[in-house]
Amino acid sequence: MTPSPTSPKTPWDQKPLTQRDLAILVGAVGVVLLAIVGTFVLLASKTTDKPTQVAATTAPTGGTPVAAEPEYPPLAALPPVSFPLDNPYSDAKAELGKLLYFDPRMSGDGSTSCNSCHPANDGSWAIGSPMSFGYPGTTHWRNSQTVYNVAYYLRLNWDGSATSIEKQNNGAWTGTVAGNLDTAMAEERLAQIPEYARLFKEVFGTDYPLYGDAIKAVATFQRTIVSQNVPFDAYLNGDANAISSEAKQGYELFTGKANCIACHNGPLVSDNSFHNTGVPTAPDFQTNALRQITVRWQYWNRGVPEDEYAAMNADLGLYYITKLDSDKGKFRTPSLRELCYTAPYMHNGVFTTLEEVVAFYNAGGGDPNGSAALTTSKDPLLQPLNLGEQEQAALVAFMQSLCGDKIIVEQPELPEYEVWPGVTLGGSR
Ligand code: HEC
Ligand code: HEC
Repeated sequence: MTPSPTSPKTPWDQKPLTQRDLAILVGAVGVVLLAIVGTFVLLASKTTDKPTQVAATTAPTGGTPVAAEPEYPPLAALPPVSFPLDNPYSDAKAELGKLLYFDPRMSGDGSTSCNSCHPANDGSWAIGSPMSFGYPGTTHWRNSQTVYNVAYYLRLNWDGSATSIEKQNNGAWTGTVAGNLDTAMAEERLAQIPEYARLFKEVFGTDYPLYGDAIKAVATFQRTIVSQNVPFDAYLNGDANAISSEAKQGYELFTGKANCIACHNGPLVSDNSFHNTGVPTAPDFQTNALRQITVRWQYWNRGVPEDEYAAMNADLGLYYITKLDSDKGKFRTPSLRELCYTAPYMHNGVFTTLEEVVAFYNAGGGDPNGSAALTTSKDPLLQPLNLGEQEQAALVAFMQSLCGDKIIVEQPELPEYEVWPGVTLGGSR
Protein backbone atom coordinates (compact mmCIF):
# COMPACT_ATOMS: atom_id res chain seq x y z
CA MET A 1 0.00 0.00 0.00
CA THR A 2 1.31 3.42 -0.84
CA PRO A 3 0.28 6.17 1.52
CA SER A 4 -1.58 8.97 -0.26
CA PRO A 5 -1.04 12.54 0.86
CA THR A 6 -4.47 12.53 2.50
CA SER A 7 -4.49 9.05 4.05
CA PRO A 8 -4.61 9.34 7.83
CA LYS A 9 -2.21 6.94 9.55
CA THR A 10 0.69 5.44 7.69
CA PRO A 11 3.92 4.34 9.34
CA TRP A 12 5.37 7.59 8.05
CA ASP A 13 2.94 9.65 10.07
CA GLN A 14 4.65 8.97 13.36
CA LYS A 15 5.83 12.50 13.63
CA PRO A 16 4.64 15.47 15.56
CA LEU A 17 4.11 17.72 12.57
CA THR A 18 3.71 16.64 8.96
CA GLN A 19 4.65 18.67 5.94
CA ARG A 20 0.98 18.76 5.09
CA ASP A 21 0.33 20.47 8.41
CA LEU A 22 3.00 22.94 7.52
CA ALA A 23 1.46 23.60 4.12
CA ILE A 24 -1.79 24.46 5.88
CA LEU A 25 0.11 26.81 8.09
CA VAL A 26 1.66 28.68 5.20
CA GLY A 27 -1.21 31.17 5.07
CA ALA A 28 -0.64 32.09 8.66
CA VAL A 29 3.12 32.36 8.40
CA GLY A 30 3.13 36.16 8.24
CA VAL A 31 1.19 36.42 11.47
CA VAL A 32 3.34 33.75 13.08
CA LEU A 33 6.58 35.46 12.13
CA LEU A 34 5.33 38.71 13.63
CA ALA A 35 4.44 36.85 16.82
CA ILE A 36 7.86 35.17 16.92
CA VAL A 37 9.73 38.39 16.35
CA GLY A 38 7.59 40.05 19.03
CA THR A 39 8.32 37.21 21.44
CA PHE A 40 12.04 37.51 20.89
CA VAL A 41 12.09 41.26 21.28
CA LEU A 42 10.28 40.69 24.56
CA LEU A 43 12.63 37.94 25.70
CA ALA A 44 15.73 39.82 24.61
CA SER A 45 14.69 42.78 26.75
CA LYS A 46 14.55 40.50 29.81
CA THR A 47 18.19 39.62 30.19
CA THR A 48 18.30 36.67 32.52
CA ASP A 49 20.92 34.01 32.91
CA LYS A 50 18.40 31.43 33.98
CA PRO A 51 17.81 28.60 31.52
CA THR A 52 14.71 29.38 29.55
CA GLN A 53 12.79 27.22 27.11
CA VAL A 54 13.14 29.97 24.55
CA ALA A 55 11.50 28.68 21.45
CA ALA A 56 9.79 29.76 18.32
CA THR A 57 6.91 27.97 19.93
CA THR A 58 6.61 30.27 22.93
CA ALA A 59 2.97 31.25 22.98
CA PRO A 60 2.28 34.90 23.61
CA THR A 61 0.54 35.27 26.91
CA GLY A 62 -2.76 37.12 27.08
CA GLY A 63 -4.47 38.82 24.16
CA THR A 64 -5.87 36.98 21.18
CA PRO A 65 -4.29 33.52 20.83
CA VAL A 66 -2.32 33.07 17.62
CA ALA A 67 -3.89 29.87 16.39
CA ALA A 68 -1.45 28.72 13.72
CA GLU A 69 1.84 29.01 15.61
CA PRO A 70 3.82 25.79 15.08
CA GLU A 71 4.59 23.85 18.23
CA TYR A 72 7.62 21.64 18.27
CA PRO A 73 8.47 19.21 21.05
CA PRO A 74 11.01 21.13 23.18
CA LEU A 75 14.58 19.97 23.61
CA ALA A 76 14.99 18.03 26.86
CA ALA A 77 17.24 15.47 28.51
CA LEU A 78 16.72 11.94 27.17
CA PRO A 79 14.28 9.82 29.19
CA PRO A 80 15.38 6.36 30.37
CA VAL A 81 15.50 3.82 27.52
CA SER A 82 12.40 1.68 27.20
CA PHE A 83 13.28 -1.88 26.31
CA PRO A 84 10.84 -3.87 24.12
CA LEU A 85 8.54 -6.30 25.92
CA ASP A 86 9.89 -9.19 23.84
CA ASN A 87 13.49 -8.23 24.53
CA PRO A 88 13.79 -6.98 28.12
CA TYR A 89 17.10 -5.82 29.57
CA SER A 90 19.43 -7.91 31.69
CA ASP A 91 23.09 -7.27 32.53
CA ALA A 92 24.10 -10.71 31.26
CA LYS A 93 22.30 -10.15 27.95
CA ALA A 94 24.00 -6.78 27.40
CA GLU A 95 27.38 -8.38 28.23
CA LEU A 96 26.79 -11.19 25.71
CA GLY A 97 25.66 -8.60 23.16
CA LYS A 98 28.90 -6.71 23.66
CA LEU A 99 30.97 -9.81 22.81
CA LEU A 100 28.90 -10.45 19.70
CA TYR A 101 29.21 -6.79 18.63
CA PHE A 102 32.97 -7.20 18.50
CA ASP A 103 33.03 -10.72 17.08
CA PRO A 104 34.07 -10.93 13.39
CA ARG A 105 33.01 -14.59 13.30
CA MET A 106 29.50 -13.14 12.95
CA SER A 107 30.28 -12.34 9.29
CA GLY A 108 30.50 -14.70 6.33
CA ASP A 109 34.30 -14.78 6.03
CA GLY A 110 35.04 -13.98 9.66
CA SER A 111 36.49 -10.58 8.74
CA THR A 112 33.92 -7.97 9.70
CA SER A 113 32.27 -7.20 13.03
CA CYS A 114 29.78 -4.48 13.91
CA ASN A 115 32.74 -2.73 15.51
CA SER A 116 34.55 -2.62 12.13
CA CYS A 117 32.01 -0.08 10.86
CA HIS A 118 30.84 1.36 14.20
CA PRO A 119 34.06 1.51 16.26
CA ALA A 120 33.28 1.52 19.96
CA ASN A 121 36.92 1.59 20.95
CA ASP A 122 37.45 5.14 19.66
CA GLY A 123 34.17 6.46 21.06
CA SER A 124 32.76 7.48 17.65
CA TRP A 125 30.62 4.38 17.08
CA ALA A 126 30.77 5.31 13.36
CA ILE A 127 33.69 5.18 10.94
CA GLY A 128 35.18 8.53 10.01
CA SER A 129 35.21 8.06 6.23
CA PRO A 130 32.47 9.92 4.33
CA MET A 131 30.97 6.68 3.05
CA SER A 132 31.39 3.31 4.68
CA PHE A 133 33.33 0.44 3.24
CA GLY A 134 31.40 -2.80 2.82
CA TYR A 135 31.82 -6.54 3.16
CA PRO A 136 35.03 -7.54 1.32
CA GLY A 137 34.47 -7.08 -2.40
CA THR A 138 31.75 -4.47 -1.91
CA THR A 139 31.58 -0.89 -0.78
CA HIS A 140 28.69 0.99 0.83
CA TRP A 141 27.18 4.19 -0.61
CA ARG A 142 26.19 5.80 2.71
CA ASN A 143 27.87 7.14 5.80
CA SER A 144 27.98 4.68 8.68
CA GLN A 145 25.70 6.00 11.40
CA THR A 146 26.62 6.23 15.02
CA VAL A 147 25.22 3.86 17.61
CA TYR A 148 24.89 6.65 20.22
CA ASN A 149 21.23 6.91 21.27
CA VAL A 150 19.85 4.53 18.62
CA ALA A 151 17.40 3.29 21.27
CA TYR A 152 15.30 6.43 20.68
CA TYR A 153 14.74 6.27 16.92
CA LEU A 154 11.41 5.04 15.58
CA ARG A 155 13.01 3.95 12.30
CA LEU A 156 16.60 2.99 11.68
CA ASN A 157 18.94 3.73 8.76
CA TRP A 158 19.17 6.96 6.77
CA ASP A 159 16.11 5.97 4.74
CA GLY A 160 14.20 4.50 7.70
CA SER A 161 14.16 1.02 6.14
CA ALA A 162 14.21 -0.81 9.51
CA THR A 163 11.47 -0.49 12.14
CA SER A 164 13.48 -1.80 15.09
CA ILE A 165 17.07 -2.18 16.16
CA GLU A 166 16.59 -5.96 16.00
CA LYS A 167 15.50 -5.77 12.34
CA GLN A 168 18.32 -3.38 11.52
CA ASN A 169 20.87 -5.69 13.11
CA ASN A 170 19.56 -8.71 11.24
CA GLY A 171 20.15 -6.74 8.03
CA ALA A 172 23.61 -5.75 9.24
CA TRP A 173 24.69 -9.32 9.98
CA THR A 174 23.12 -11.05 6.99
CA GLY A 175 23.16 -8.24 4.40
CA THR A 176 25.43 -8.69 1.40
CA VAL A 177 27.09 -5.27 1.84
CA ALA A 178 27.71 -5.62 5.62
CA GLY A 179 28.10 -9.01 7.36
CA ASN A 180 27.05 -11.44 4.61
CA LEU A 181 26.39 -14.05 7.29
CA ASP A 182 24.47 -17.28 6.84
CA THR A 183 22.38 -17.67 9.99
CA ALA A 184 22.64 -21.48 10.23
CA MET A 185 26.41 -21.15 9.86
CA ALA A 186 26.36 -18.54 12.63
CA GLU A 187 24.62 -21.01 14.95
CA GLU A 188 27.15 -23.76 14.14
CA ARG A 189 29.99 -21.38 14.89
CA LEU A 190 28.48 -20.14 18.16
CA ALA A 191 27.81 -23.74 19.24
CA GLN A 192 31.50 -24.58 18.75
CA ILE A 193 32.52 -21.84 21.15
CA PRO A 194 31.66 -23.44 24.51
CA GLU A 195 31.78 -20.12 26.36
CA TYR A 196 29.09 -18.74 24.02
CA ALA A 197 27.01 -21.91 24.46
CA ARG A 198 27.23 -21.38 28.23
CA LEU A 199 26.32 -17.68 28.00
CA PHE A 200 23.34 -18.29 25.66
CA LYS A 201 22.07 -20.93 28.08
CA GLU A 202 22.46 -18.54 31.01
CA VAL A 203 20.71 -15.65 29.25
CA PHE A 204 18.10 -17.41 27.11
CA GLY A 205 17.80 -20.88 28.72
CA THR A 206 18.49 -22.75 25.46
CA ASP A 207 20.78 -25.76 25.00
CA TYR A 208 21.96 -24.40 21.67
CA PRO A 209 22.80 -20.78 20.71
CA LEU A 210 20.04 -19.43 18.48
CA TYR A 211 20.66 -16.73 15.89
CA GLY A 212 17.48 -14.84 16.90
CA ASP A 213 18.78 -14.66 20.46
CA ALA A 214 22.11 -13.31 19.23
CA ILE A 215 20.14 -10.47 17.59
CA LYS A 216 18.34 -9.78 20.88
CA ALA A 217 21.61 -9.65 22.79
CA VAL A 218 23.41 -7.34 20.36
CA ALA A 219 20.39 -5.00 20.20
CA THR A 220 20.29 -4.86 24.01
CA PHE A 221 23.95 -3.87 24.11
CA GLN A 222 23.31 -0.96 21.71
CA ARG A 223 20.38 0.27 23.81
CA THR A 224 22.88 0.91 26.62
CA ILE A 225 24.89 3.39 24.53
CA VAL A 226 23.14 6.56 25.67
CA SER A 227 24.46 10.12 26.12
CA GLN A 228 25.89 10.82 29.55
CA ASN A 229 26.67 14.09 31.36
CA VAL A 230 25.59 16.42 28.57
CA PRO A 231 26.33 20.10 29.40
CA PHE A 232 23.20 21.33 27.61
CA ASP A 233 21.00 18.92 29.60
CA ALA A 234 22.57 20.24 32.82
CA TYR A 235 21.78 23.76 31.64
CA LEU A 236 18.13 22.85 31.01
CA ASN A 237 18.07 21.30 34.48
CA GLY A 238 18.96 24.66 35.98
CA ASP A 239 22.77 24.86 35.97
CA ALA A 240 23.14 28.25 34.29
CA ASN A 241 26.93 27.88 34.04
CA ALA A 242 26.94 24.48 32.34
CA ILE A 243 27.28 26.01 28.86
CA SER A 244 28.99 29.12 27.47
CA SER A 245 27.11 32.30 26.65
CA GLU A 246 27.92 31.63 23.00
CA ALA A 247 26.15 28.25 23.25
CA LYS A 248 23.17 29.98 24.91
CA GLN A 249 23.00 32.40 21.98
CA GLY A 250 23.22 29.39 19.64
CA TYR A 251 20.29 27.78 21.47
CA GLU A 252 18.19 30.91 20.92
CA LEU A 253 19.07 30.95 17.23
CA PHE A 254 18.37 27.21 16.98
CA THR A 255 14.84 27.65 18.32
CA GLY A 256 14.30 31.07 16.75
CA LYS A 257 15.86 32.79 13.75
CA ALA A 258 17.51 29.65 12.34
CA ASN A 259 14.44 27.46 13.13
CA CYS A 260 16.45 24.25 13.29
CA ILE A 261 13.92 23.12 15.93
CA ALA A 262 11.36 22.58 13.15
CA CYS A 263 13.08 19.26 12.40
CA HIS A 264 15.63 18.76 15.18
CA ASN A 265 13.36 18.66 18.21
CA GLY A 266 12.42 16.70 21.34
CA PRO A 267 14.91 14.96 23.63
CA LEU A 268 16.61 13.18 20.70
CA VAL A 269 16.93 16.48 18.77
CA SER A 270 15.33 14.68 15.84
CA ASP A 271 11.68 14.62 14.75
CA ASN A 272 12.18 10.99 13.72
CA SER A 273 10.87 12.04 10.32
CA PHE A 274 12.19 12.49 6.77
CA HIS A 275 13.17 15.60 4.81
CA ASN A 276 15.03 16.54 1.67
CA THR A 277 17.51 19.24 2.62
CA GLY A 278 19.30 19.14 -0.75
CA VAL A 279 22.56 17.59 0.46
CA PRO A 280 24.84 17.46 -2.59
CA THR A 281 25.63 14.09 -4.12
CA ALA A 282 28.98 12.70 -3.05
CA PRO A 283 31.83 13.35 -5.50
CA ASP A 284 32.41 9.74 -6.51
CA PHE A 285 28.82 8.46 -6.27
CA GLN A 286 28.44 8.25 -10.04
CA THR A 287 31.99 7.23 -10.89
CA ASN A 288 32.97 4.59 -8.31
CA ALA A 289 32.06 1.30 -9.98
CA LEU A 290 31.91 -0.73 -6.75
CA ARG A 291 29.57 1.84 -5.21
CA GLN A 292 27.33 1.87 -8.28
CA ILE A 293 27.19 -1.92 -8.16
CA THR A 294 26.01 -2.05 -4.54
CA VAL A 295 23.57 0.81 -4.84
CA ARG A 296 22.06 -0.59 -8.05
CA TRP A 297 21.88 -4.05 -6.50
CA GLN A 298 19.97 -2.59 -3.53
CA TYR A 299 17.60 -0.62 -5.77
CA TRP A 300 16.92 -3.67 -7.89
CA ASN A 301 16.20 -5.67 -4.73
CA ARG A 302 13.78 -2.99 -3.57
CA GLY A 303 11.89 -2.95 -6.85
CA VAL A 304 12.82 0.60 -7.85
CA PRO A 305 11.40 1.36 -11.34
CA GLU A 306 13.66 0.77 -14.31
CA ASP A 307 14.12 4.44 -15.29
CA GLU A 308 15.37 5.37 -11.81
CA TYR A 309 17.59 2.32 -11.73
CA ALA A 310 19.08 3.26 -15.08
CA ALA A 311 19.68 6.92 -14.17
CA MET A 312 21.08 6.28 -10.71
CA ASN A 313 22.74 9.66 -10.37
CA ALA A 314 21.68 10.39 -6.80
CA ASP A 315 20.75 8.57 -3.59
CA LEU A 316 16.96 8.84 -3.50
CA GLY A 317 16.66 7.99 0.23
CA LEU A 318 13.11 7.41 1.47
CA TYR A 319 11.87 6.97 -2.13
CA TYR A 320 13.69 3.67 -2.13
CA ILE A 321 11.17 2.46 0.47
CA THR A 322 7.93 4.23 -0.54
CA LYS A 323 8.49 4.75 -4.34
CA LEU A 324 6.69 8.10 -3.97
CA ASP A 325 8.18 10.89 -6.08
CA SER A 326 7.55 13.30 -3.21
CA ASP A 327 9.94 11.24 -1.06
CA LYS A 328 12.92 11.53 -3.40
CA GLY A 329 16.03 12.70 -1.60
CA LYS A 330 14.44 12.53 1.87
CA PHE A 331 16.51 11.16 4.72
CA ARG A 332 15.73 10.61 8.39
CA THR A 333 16.56 13.63 10.52
CA PRO A 334 19.59 12.61 12.56
CA SER A 335 19.93 13.40 16.25
CA LEU A 336 22.28 16.31 16.92
CA ARG A 337 23.64 14.71 20.10
CA GLU A 338 27.30 13.64 20.29
CA LEU A 339 28.23 15.23 16.93
CA CYS A 340 31.68 16.11 18.35
CA TYR A 341 32.61 12.43 17.93
CA THR A 342 30.80 11.44 14.73
CA ALA A 343 32.13 13.54 11.81
CA PRO A 344 31.74 13.59 8.85
CA TYR A 345 28.09 14.56 8.51
CA MET A 346 25.01 13.82 6.39
CA HIS A 347 23.93 10.55 4.75
CA ASN A 348 26.98 10.61 2.49
CA GLY A 349 29.45 12.37 4.76
CA VAL A 350 29.92 15.32 2.38
CA PHE A 351 30.51 17.79 5.23
CA THR A 352 33.60 17.39 7.37
CA THR A 353 32.86 20.04 10.01
CA LEU A 354 29.86 21.50 11.82
CA GLU A 355 30.87 24.90 10.43
CA GLU A 356 30.32 23.56 6.91
CA VAL A 357 26.91 22.17 7.92
CA VAL A 358 25.82 25.53 9.35
CA ALA A 359 27.04 27.37 6.22
CA PHE A 360 24.95 24.91 4.17
CA TYR A 361 21.81 25.77 6.16
CA ASN A 362 22.65 29.48 6.11
CA ALA A 363 22.50 29.29 2.32
CA GLY A 364 19.01 27.74 2.56
CA GLY A 365 20.16 24.14 2.17
CA GLY A 366 21.48 22.71 -1.04
CA ASP A 367 20.53 22.73 -4.67
CA PRO A 368 19.96 19.01 -5.12
CA ASN A 369 22.01 18.60 -8.29
CA GLY A 370 19.65 20.78 -10.22
CA SER A 371 17.63 17.55 -10.59
CA ALA A 372 13.96 18.52 -11.09
CA ALA A 373 12.64 15.60 -9.04
CA LEU A 374 14.91 16.30 -6.12
CA THR A 375 14.31 20.04 -6.22
CA THR A 376 10.54 19.52 -6.01
CA SER A 377 10.80 17.41 -2.88
CA LYS A 378 13.17 19.82 -1.14
CA ASP A 379 11.73 21.01 2.16
CA PRO A 380 10.26 24.55 1.88
CA LEU A 381 11.29 25.18 5.50
CA LEU A 382 14.85 25.64 4.30
CA GLN A 383 15.40 29.24 3.25
CA PRO A 384 18.48 31.46 3.42
CA LEU A 385 18.97 32.45 7.07
CA ASN A 386 21.18 35.54 6.79
CA LEU A 387 23.19 34.55 9.85
CA GLY A 388 26.37 36.50 10.44
CA GLU A 389 29.65 34.71 11.11
CA GLN A 390 29.33 35.15 14.85
CA GLU A 391 25.79 33.71 14.80
CA GLN A 392 26.97 30.72 12.79
CA ALA A 393 29.74 30.12 15.33
CA ALA A 394 27.14 30.31 18.11
CA LEU A 395 25.08 27.55 16.47
CA VAL A 396 28.19 25.38 16.35
CA ALA A 397 28.90 26.12 20.03
CA PHE A 398 25.33 25.11 20.87
CA MET A 399 25.70 21.79 19.04
CA GLN A 400 28.98 21.20 20.87
CA SER A 401 27.13 21.69 24.17
CA LEU A 402 25.04 18.64 23.18
CA CYS A 403 28.13 16.43 23.44
CA GLY A 404 28.38 14.46 26.66
CA ASP A 405 31.05 12.03 27.83
CA LYS A 406 32.77 10.13 25.05
CA ILE A 407 31.69 6.53 25.59
CA ILE A 408 34.54 4.15 24.86
CA VAL A 409 34.13 0.40 25.02
CA GLU A 410 37.37 -1.50 24.53
CA GLN A 411 37.57 -4.63 22.42
CA PRO A 412 36.83 -7.48 24.87
CA GLU A 413 38.70 -10.77 24.83
CA LEU A 414 36.59 -13.07 22.67
CA PRO A 415 35.99 -16.71 23.64
CA GLU A 416 37.86 -19.26 21.51
CA TYR A 417 36.59 -22.01 19.20
CA GLU A 418 36.86 -25.44 20.78
CA VAL A 419 35.21 -28.50 19.38
CA TRP A 420 32.34 -29.06 21.78
CA PRO A 421 31.51 -32.74 22.06
CA GLY A 422 28.13 -32.12 23.73
CA VAL A 423 26.69 -30.32 20.72
CA THR A 424 23.47 -31.80 19.32
CA LEU A 425 21.59 -31.06 16.13
CA GLY A 426 19.51 -28.13 17.22
CA GLY A 427 19.24 -24.49 16.51
CA SER A 428 16.71 -22.96 14.16
CA ARG A 429 17.00 -25.69 11.53
C1 HEC B 1 30.44 -2.85 6.46
C2 HEC B 1 30.08 -1.82 7.39
C3 HEC B 1 28.99 -2.10 8.40
C4 HEC B 1 28.85 -3.20 9.22
C5 HEC B 1 29.68 -4.46 9.25
C6 HEC B 1 27.75 -2.91 10.10
N1 HEC B 1 27.22 -1.67 9.81
FE1 HEC B 1 25.74 -0.73 10.81
N2 HEC B 1 25.64 0.66 9.38
C7 HEC B 1 26.53 0.80 8.34
C8 HEC B 1 26.03 1.80 7.41
C9 HEC B 1 26.72 2.26 6.14
C10 HEC B 1 24.80 2.25 7.93
C11 HEC B 1 23.82 3.21 7.27
C12 HEC B 1 22.96 2.32 6.37
C13 HEC B 1 21.88 3.04 5.59
O1 HEC B 1 21.36 4.04 6.07
O2 HEC B 1 21.53 2.56 4.51
C14 HEC B 1 24.59 1.51 9.18
C15 HEC B 1 23.50 1.69 10.04
C16 HEC B 1 23.40 1.11 11.30
C17 HEC B 1 22.41 1.43 12.30
C18 HEC B 1 21.30 2.45 12.16
C19 HEC B 1 21.59 3.67 12.99
C20 HEC B 1 20.56 4.74 12.86
O3 HEC B 1 20.78 5.85 13.35
O4 HEC B 1 19.51 4.50 12.25
C21 HEC B 1 22.65 0.63 13.39
C22 HEC B 1 21.87 0.60 14.69
C23 HEC B 1 23.77 -0.20 13.06
N3 HEC B 1 24.21 0.12 11.78
C24 HEC B 1 24.31 -1.17 13.89
C25 HEC B 1 25.13 -2.19 13.41
C26 HEC B 1 25.38 -3.43 14.11
C27 HEC B 1 24.87 -3.79 15.49
C28 HEC B 1 26.19 -4.18 13.31
C29 HEC B 1 26.63 -5.62 13.53
C30 HEC B 1 25.49 -6.54 13.70
C31 HEC B 1 26.46 -3.38 12.12
N4 HEC B 1 25.78 -2.20 12.21
C32 HEC B 1 27.30 -3.77 11.09
C33 HEC B 1 27.70 0.09 8.17
C34 HEC B 1 27.93 -1.15 8.77
C1 HEC C 1 13.59 20.60 7.12
C2 HEC C 1 14.11 19.87 8.27
C3 HEC C 1 15.45 20.33 8.82
C4 HEC C 1 15.81 21.58 9.28
C5 HEC C 1 14.96 22.84 9.32
C6 HEC C 1 17.16 21.45 9.74
N1 HEC C 1 17.62 20.18 9.56
FE1 HEC C 1 19.46 19.50 10.01
N2 HEC C 1 19.03 17.72 9.10
C7 HEC C 1 17.81 17.38 8.56
C8 HEC C 1 17.95 16.16 7.82
C9 HEC C 1 16.84 15.42 7.08
C10 HEC C 1 19.31 15.80 7.88
C11 HEC C 1 19.97 14.62 7.15
C12 HEC C 1 20.15 15.06 5.71
C13 HEC C 1 20.93 14.11 4.83
O1 HEC C 1 21.78 13.38 5.31
O2 HEC C 1 20.69 14.13 3.61
C14 HEC C 1 19.95 16.79 8.73
C15 HEC C 1 21.30 16.75 9.10
C16 HEC C 1 21.89 17.67 9.96
C17 HEC C 1 23.22 17.53 10.50
C18 HEC C 1 24.16 16.35 10.27
C19 HEC C 1 24.10 15.37 11.43
C20 HEC C 1 24.79 14.05 11.16
O3 HEC C 1 24.87 13.24 12.08
O4 HEC C 1 25.25 13.80 10.03
C21 HEC C 1 23.45 18.62 11.28
C22 HEC C 1 24.70 18.93 12.06
C23 HEC C 1 22.26 19.45 11.22
N3 HEC C 1 21.33 18.83 10.41
C24 HEC C 1 22.10 20.66 11.87
C25 HEC C 1 21.04 21.53 11.62
C26 HEC C 1 21.02 22.92 12.02
C27 HEC C 1 22.11 23.61 12.81
C28 HEC C 1 19.84 23.45 11.55
C29 HEC C 1 19.37 24.87 11.62
C30 HEC C 1 20.28 25.84 11.00
C31 HEC C 1 19.14 22.37 10.86
N4 HEC C 1 19.90 21.24 10.93
C32 HEC C 1 17.89 22.51 10.26
C33 HEC C 1 16.64 18.11 8.68
C34 HEC C 1 16.59 19.46 9.01
